[in-house]
Order: sequence, then C-alpha cells, then structure tokens
Amino acid sequence: MVLTGDTGHAGDTVLLLDEDTMADPPGHPREGSPRLSKFHAPEIVFGHDSLPEAAHAAVRLGASRPFVVTDPGLTEAGWPAELLRHMRAAGLRPQLWNEITPNPKDHEIQAGYQRYMASGCDVVLGIGGGSVIDAAKGVALLSANGGTIGDYEGIDRIANPIPPLVMIPSTSGTGADVSQFCIITDTERLTKITIMGRALVPDVSVIDPRLLVTMPDWLNAATGLDALTHGIEAFVSLAHGPLTDTHALHAVALVHGNLPTTMIHRHDDASRSAMAQAALEAGLAFTNAILGATHAMSHQVGGMLDLPHGVINGVLLPHVIRFNGADEPTRFVPIAQAMGLPARPGMPGDEAVDMVATEVRKLADEVGVPTGLAALGVRDQDVPRLAQLTLGDACLTTNPRSASVEEIERLFREAL
Ligand SMILES: NC(=O)c1ccc[n+]([C@@H]2O[C@H](COP(=O)([O-])OP(=O)(O)OC[C@H]3O[C@@H](n4cnc5c(N)ncnc54)[C@H](O)[C@@H]3O)[C@@H](O)[C@H]2O)c1
Ligand SMILES: [Fe+2]
Repeated sequence: MVLTGDTGHAGDTVLLLDEDTMADPPGHPREGSPRLSKFHAPEIVFGHDSLPEAAHAAVRLGASRPFVVTDPGLTEAGWPAELLRHMRAAGLRPQLWNEITPNPKDHEIQAGYQRYMASGCDVVLGIGGGSVIDAAKGVALLSANGGTIGDYEGIDRIANPIPPLVMIPSTSGTGADVSQFCIITDTERLTKITIMGRALVPDVSVIDPRLLVTMPDWLNAATGLDALTHGIEAFVSLAHGPLTDTHALHAVALVHGNLPTTMIHRHDDASRSAMAQAALEAGLAFTNAILGATHAMSHQVGGMLDLPHGVINGVLLPHVIRFNGADEPTRFVPIAQAMGLPARPGMPGDEAVDMVATEVRKLADEVGVPTGLAALGVRDQDVPRLAQLTLGDACLTTNPRSASVEEIERLFREAL
C-alpha cells in the first residue's frame, strides 16, 4: 500500500493507492486483498427548482451575512439575483462579489479575500461554473489561513478550518461543487496551480439543472467533455476503487447518451438533468480517485492561454487514452461498454482502447471542439515548457502509466 498526501494528521490522507489491487476488474476485488477505500462527499440537494434550498442550507450552517461569489456572466443570466431574493426571504443579509474572470487569477482571489475580511460575512456561497466555485473556495481558504493563494499549492496544506461552503454549479462539467480541488491561475508563472485537501470539499452542493439552460453552446460542449474526462480519468486512475468506479462509469454513459441532445434541444429537461447528474457523478469519482495526465497537461495550456478547460481536455483526451491504453488496456473495456460500443469482457484490450479514443474524438467533433491544440494557439516551441510544468502537476501522480518529460512532449506534439 502506498499512501500519499499524508500530512501526519489522522484523517487527512487524501490519496490511497493500492498497487497490488489497482489492476483488478471493477466489482471483483481479489480475495483477501487488503483494499482500503475512503469516500468524501458534501450534502447534495439535486433537482429542478432546488435553488431556494441554498438559502435554507446557509441558514442551517449558521449564516446571517453570507458572502455570495459569482461572475459577470452569471449576473447577466440572472441566477444570482434569484438566489439573493431567496436569501433575503430566509432572513439573510447577503453580500455579493462578482469580480472574477474564467480561469480565476491569483490576484482576483487576493482581492476577494480583502473584500470578505472587510464584509463581516460568515458563510461562503458560490453560484457559477468551476471558476466561481474555485474562487469561492480560494477566498474561504485565505480568510481562515492568511497568506497568498500560491502558498497552498499541493496536497493538504490547509491548517485552519475554513468557513462553511455552499456551492451551486451553473455548468454541467467541473464537479468543483463536490470536489476537494481548487484550481487557480498563477499569473507570474502562467500556469494553473492545483490545491487539494479535504477542507475544500463544500458542505452543501445545490444542483438545479434549470441553471444550465443559459449556458452558451460552446460552454455546454466544453463542460460536458470535462465531465467525460473526469469519468474516464477517475476510472483508470491509480487511486480508483469500487466506490468511485460505479460513479465514473455511469458518468461516462450519461455524457455519451445526453450531451449531443442538449446541444440540439436546449430546453430538454431530461437530458439537462442527466448532464447535471453526469457532472455530479464524475465529480464524486474524481475527487476521490483523482485524475490523470489529461488534466495535468490541460492545466498548463489553460494557464498559458486562458482557454476553456473542457475544450483543452476534449483535444488531449484521445491522445492520453491511447498512451495509457498501450500499457494497460483492460480497464478501457468497461468504459467502451458504458459508451454503448460493441465491447465484451475478454476482447483484446487494444481494440477497446481504440474504440474509446475514436468515440471520444467523434463526440468532440459532434459538439464542435477543434482537432488540435495548434487551433487553440499552442505552438511547437511552447511544448518543452508545457511538458516540464506538467511533471509538477498533482494530477499526474495518479495517471495509470508513468510518463517521462520526453513522453509528455511527444503527447503534446501528437495533439498539436
Ligand atoms: N475545482 C475543481 O474540482 C475543478 C474541476 C475541473 C475544472 N475546474 C476549473 O473550472 C474552471 C472552468 O469552469 P467552467 O468550465 O464551469 O466554466 P467557467 O466557470 O470558467 O465559466 C465560463 C464562462 O461561462 C459563464 N457561465 C457559466 N455558467 C453559465 C450559465 N449557466 N449561463 C450563462 N453563462 C454562464 C461564466 O460567466 C463565464 O464567463 C477552470 O478554471 C477549471 O480549471 C475546477
Ligand atoms: Fe476538469
């Protein structure tokens, strides 16, 4: 058994990697195998019209003056205004802060922290996509621990308990509302830093699929592919386990079966709810099983070019699937089955790998994601720096195949 991320405090270990059992097929742990699993999750309120529950959740958590984090896009869509009405009706005096951009920047978090400290607020709410939720987590983290956000890069470096968190996702993708991750752009190094720790798992996630209908199509496509990437990377992760496998595979099936419908029929309630559930289950899977090389590489491109996270993932994922599958292909058979592809147990694993990689690319084409990173602005001369930074990303720790800097460079070049 290999333990990482252990700070020495009981209960703080965030990764449990079991090298002896990681190749077991899902649902069939080897007899006598000393497998240890741990699963964290917030309280989850899910369903059409659940938004008012966020106000009640804040009251239950002891709020009187909640700090509501959002961004200009959400403000324009009108969802924060509706939330504030529910909060006032519940007797709360909310303070709104919406000065963040996508791929939230370190200086924006610092400014939000100053605003929070001056506001006398108690509970932190985030209503928005992954950028808003990560910014809300960053502000909460600093309010109890001080310093600058970069001080917390890495695993379990948060010492003091942070204010209660209520998150309301407005995209069907990141799973940040249930995750122990906070991803912030380091504007000096032009990279995205990963902060991980159980303290960052929100107390309550309120998931109202109504919020998804105002997403522009490009964002719906990007965040759907992000959820797909979470499902696939969590399923093959070195830290996967029986409790994460079922969520990971179900998320893959839900994205595959519903993302195209939401692109055509914006107001189709059933497929919107299915995508909200996909994002949730993918989030539950990856926050416990962690991710892999796609995310480790994507964070570097996103930090350098300030691009939509899910689009970069959609481009990189088929390449990483082929790289990982060349080493250990068998776990791609259940993934292919979850996508409704003609895969069967016992088939040659490399055929399943090829099926999954081809199908992911097909889905990316269908929703309008470019075929290569060059179309997104990545140049050949950027590759060595991107590859070097990838090696330091926490998500690479759980990729099922270890990768040298030369292999990462080759993957970036294949994806150009
Ligand atoms: N913490 C985690 O676990 C985790 C996991 C994956 C990704 N992320 C991070 O999440 C960020 C990406 O988040 P995202 O893809 O959800 O998008 P986003 O939060 O960056 O939002 C993109 C844009 O879409 C707008 N928008 C969002 N929802 C909308 C809605 N319902 N209606 C209208 N406009 C809307 C926003 O205002 C914003 O301008 C990246 O920084 C990524 O690194 C975090
Ligand atoms: Fe992601």
